[in-house]
Amino acid sequence: MTPNEHARLAGQASQILRENDRGAYTVPTKGLYPFQWNWDSCLTALGFAAFDEDRAWREMETLFAHQWPDGMVPHIVFHQEDEGYFPGPDVWRTGRPVPTSGITQPAVAGFTARRIYERSKDKAANAARVRALVEKIDRWHAFLCSARDPRGEGLVAIIHPWESGRDNAIDWDEPFQRVPGEGIAPYRRRDVDHADPAHRPTKEQYDRYLWLLEHFRRHDWNNGVLHDLSPFRVVDPGFNAILIRSCTDLAALADELGAADIARANRARAEKGLAALERLWSERHGQYLCLDRTTDGLIDSPSVGGLIAVFAAIPEARAGAIGARIMEIAKRCRYVVPSHDPADSRFDAKRYWRGPAWLIVNYLVSDGLAAAGMDAVAETIRASSLQLIEKGGFAEYYDPLTGEPCGGGQFTWTAAMVLEFLRGGEARALAPV
Ligand code: DGY
Repeated sequence: MTPNEHARLAGQASQILRENDRGAYTVPTKGLYPFQWNWDSCLTALGFAAFDEDRAWREMETLFAHQWPDGMVPHIVFHQEDEGYFPGPDVWRTGRPVPTSGITQPAVAGFTARRIYERSKDKAANAARVRALVEKIDRWHAFLCSARDPRGEGLVAIIHPWESGRDNAIDWDEPFQRVPGEGIAPYRRRDVDHADPAHRPTKEQYDRYLWLLEHFRRHDWNNGVLHDLSPFRVVDPGFNAILIRSCTDLAALADELGAADIARANRARAEKGLAALERLWSERHGQYLCLDRTTDGLIDSPSVGGLIAVFAAIPEARAGAIGARIMEIAKRCRYVVPSHDPADSRFDAKRYWRGPAWLIVNYLVSDGLAAAGMDAVAETIRASSLQLIEKGGFAEYYDPLTGEPCGGGQFTWTAAMVLEFLRGGEARALAPV
């Protein structure tokens, strides 16, 4: 890429962040997602940090200002009214002062906070605000490791597909059969007003998403009981790897800021999680799989959830196998990393998390691969990501066979990831905890 092309792409990416900026938080895209989303925001903060560090911290601070008393950080904060999204606050009815949803999302904040802080131009000036954030992130980790792992198995479960961030992944098809779709209040979807219905989850899936929401609402959003009361309890290697990595990074950050207790607690969580993750390895697939906590069986679904595991400091041989697997998958599609293996008959190139490639996933996977010393595979992913942008613009996700842009456009976290990819990223060995 020439310096001019580099500057042009960086300029376009920064412009998208500015356009979607609502002052103290950012919308993922206009229309389809008009509020603040949890992991979107944290990853977006990385993008802001490239040109406005103060704004980056504010993005995360705004999200954490809406942390629940039990430590959960909700997946959506409804800062303002907007009829264009469903399900809105009147459906969730979580009773929070500023309305929020009642479930969470991948805990990437520990990772992003450390990455932004280590690049900080004035660490001393930012130390106090970062320390305050570290305490809140620690409370979120504590929440996940108790409310979502009530028996202390070392791995946390998601209780709603939306918690994984990979809403309609093939991983959930089987466990979702236990969630009824009947008896819910009539509703009208709004997502299909903004995006091609063929790129979005089906009505049957929405019925079940809503059933779970109403079920949790009937139990007053009491996280002390929701895990055991949910017919959907799945251990996602991607969700867990992100949490484990965030625990490791939060520990390092806490050490630097003199918060020894927080550092110790998070190192212990990461260590326990890494040991437990082994349970999810599938020799047959050469990657990790989801575990259905209700049946205690692995789910036969080779998705990107099992590849995101490389974002945590998994054993070297596992990381090597994941690198090899990605190169194998790369032979079956033009752009990596597809959210599901194209060799599987259930793969669907354009439907959200059932096949399309996402830049945020590419970033997490390539960061983990680089840290494990697999620079060539990481570089393949980075190059593919930038080609997708050149070809299709800053879309929500892309058809990995053709590169066609799908879902929403002018997408905030896609732009943030472009700024990261242009930077080259920092490959840093993930020392075993
Ligand atoms: C949506 O509305 O599609 C979101 O992914 C759920 O958070």
